[in-house]
Amino acid sequence: MTKPILPEEVAAAVIDPTAYAAWEPLHERLAWARANMPLGVAENPTHDPFWLVTRHADIMAVGRDPQRFANGVRPTVLTDRDGEALARAATPGGDGHLIRSLVQMDAPDHMKYRLLTQGWFLPKNLRIVENRIREIARETVEHMLSLGRECDFARDVAAHYPLRVIMDILGVPAQDEPRMLMLTQQLFGSTDPELNRGREAIKSTEQAIAMLHYVIADFESYFRELTADRRANPREDIATVIANATIDDGPIPDRELAGYYMIVATAGHDTTSASTAGAMMELAKTPELFARFRDAEADKAGLIEEAIRWSTPVQHFMRSAREDVELGGQTIRAGDWLMLNYVSANRDEAVFADPFAFDPDRAKNQQIAFGFGAHVCLGQHLARMEMRILMEELLPRLKRVELAGEPARVESVFVGGLKRLPIRFEAA
Ligand code: HEM
Repeated sequence: MTKPILPEEVAAAVIDPTAYAAWEPLHERLAWARANMPLGVAENPTHDPFWLVTRHADIMAVGRDPQRFANGVRPTVLTDRDGEALARAATPGGDGHLIRSLVQMDAPDHMKYRLLTQGWFLPKNLRIVENRIREIARETVEHMLSLGRECDFARDVAAHYPLRVIMDILGVPAQDEPRMLMLTQQLFGSTDPELNRGREAIKSTEQAIAMLHYVIADFESYFRELTADRRANPREDIATVIANATIDDGPIPDRELAGYYMIVATAGHDTTSASTAGAMMELAKTPELFARFRDAEADKAGLIEEAIRWSTPVQHFMRSAREDVELGGQTIRAGDWLMLNYVSANRDEAVFADPFAFDPDRAKNQQIAFGFGAHVCLGQHLARMEMRILMEELLPRLKRVELAGEPARVESVFVGGLKRLPIRFEAA
């Protein structure tokens, strides 16, 4: 059977950072794919071909089958051919993974490593950090109110709060936050020119490899010190859990150790910032929604779940087939590469009534912004809790809020969301 090949403009859109920034036209292309070619091959000159998976049900099917759809075989996030060659040249063993963390692992390592911290991130345990998060939320609200009557909510508020929370519960002291932020940005690089000044200077592959080695070495040395400290002086933070964990009766090897800290440090901020800003945008656009949720008694759960669906901060992850698999009426061959497009799944007409409406009253919101299956987001309960606490602290302190300019989205294929959200507000 011949493989269905996606129209050029659909294949080009899903790898184009500016398409994720423009947002609406991308949705039209994804809706076309869901209706006409829910599993189609995207062929682009710059990238190896991959199956674009757009339907909710097919993405769930891939997620629940990690034995046949692996994370670790090829980079987990879409990479072009040059980027992949660079990453392979820069990595020990040439596996192309600059770090080795949960998202790059498969069985049997993945579960062994995941179980080390999974319990820590469960709702009943997170209660121990609730008060601390509330303090950070209150500081954030005071900061916002101190800005006067207008601010860029994405840049001035949403970008900082989740970073402060994750660093705090990870155990990185406040004075090291700028270093952590810089290292993450250097490592993952951003495709958005406004957020990517530092990368312009890199002119050659050799220079890029040298820079990556430098950044990874810096990360590893930072976390080696943190590990030594937490072994000597355990505290109630995640660093203590990771530092004192054992794998196969020994301490976690250096590369995996740094990978563990890094995934926790990096997965938890831009993502939660994006869904927080996404919630605020809808509140600023719709006064009735704001009036309803600013009531201190109003249950915020529906608002938060819908804001996560609506913004879908993690826009895709990749998988590789280990063997031939039938999926959605197509035969996926061993070695094929697949893009799980979460943006598409979260607007799937087969699952969400009126998917392009923001509706906090959905009876059963089956959003899959956190993924599904073995790799489902480790921090999902934390993300919801952070958003809830910020909304509880912020909304009753405001009398009115409205848009004060055009919002703008990040140019990125991977983690997206608002980079600008100008709002005007009146304190209560
Ligand atoms: C994995 C989304 C917040 C930590 C993931 C995945 C997604 C995701 C889609 C991967 C699923 C897949 O493999 O397809 C999000 C969203 C967030 C968020 C939308 C906020 C709204 C957080 C937070 C943390 C976190 C606050 C804090 C530690 C992780 C980790 C993984 C992960 C460690 C890897 C899990 C594994 O591979 O086993 N997240 N995330 N995330 N997330 Fe989140």
